[in-house]
Amino acid sequence: MTRVVCPGSFDPVTNGHLDIITRASFLFDEVVVVVLVNESKKGLFDTEERIDLIRRSMRQRPNVTVDSYAGLLVDYCAQNDVSAIVKGLRAVSDFDYELQMAQMNGNLTGVDTVFIPTAPDYMFIASSLVKEVARHGGDVADLVPTPVLAALDAKFGH
Ligand code: PNS
Repeated sequence: MTRVVCPGSFDPVTNGHLDIITRASFLFDEVVVVVLVNESKKGLFDTEERIDLIRRSMRQRPNVTVDSYAGLLVDYCAQNDVSAIVKGLRAVSDFDYELQMAQMNGNLTGVDTVFIPTAPDYMFIASSLVKEVARHGGDVADLVPTPVLAALDAKFGH
């Protein structure tokens, strides 16, 4: 059985993330979406909210579970019998940093990283931009799943 992780901050999860997670769920037996907790970075949503939004947005894929971790991703992988890390690649601009992280993680424990190219429709979506647009009342309905849209509306009082 091949268990992989889709790691990220997911503040909040977007349609771009969901596309990568869904495609990974067709490629591998089990996908664990791991919300990495970064104590030094206060986000819009807390960890429990992020987990809840991913769970409610991914209900239709039975082999996808959601977890969180405060620490090194490679340690989570070692403790949970994870075969590989799955990341989406949007553009060349993502590549340098993603390659660096993949090589660092590989160097630490030997865990491999698999890149899935982002679908063209989602190339421009980033959680940070979604939050900025939503904060100012812009329309993000096509960029995030319904539970996230409602949560953004509630946060920003729209
Ligand atoms: O969604 P993001 O913020 O682009 O995801 C980045 C993330 C959380 C996957 C990355 O920062 C990470 O793996 N953090 C966990 C801590 C860690 O293992 N750091 C070393 C990376 S080489």
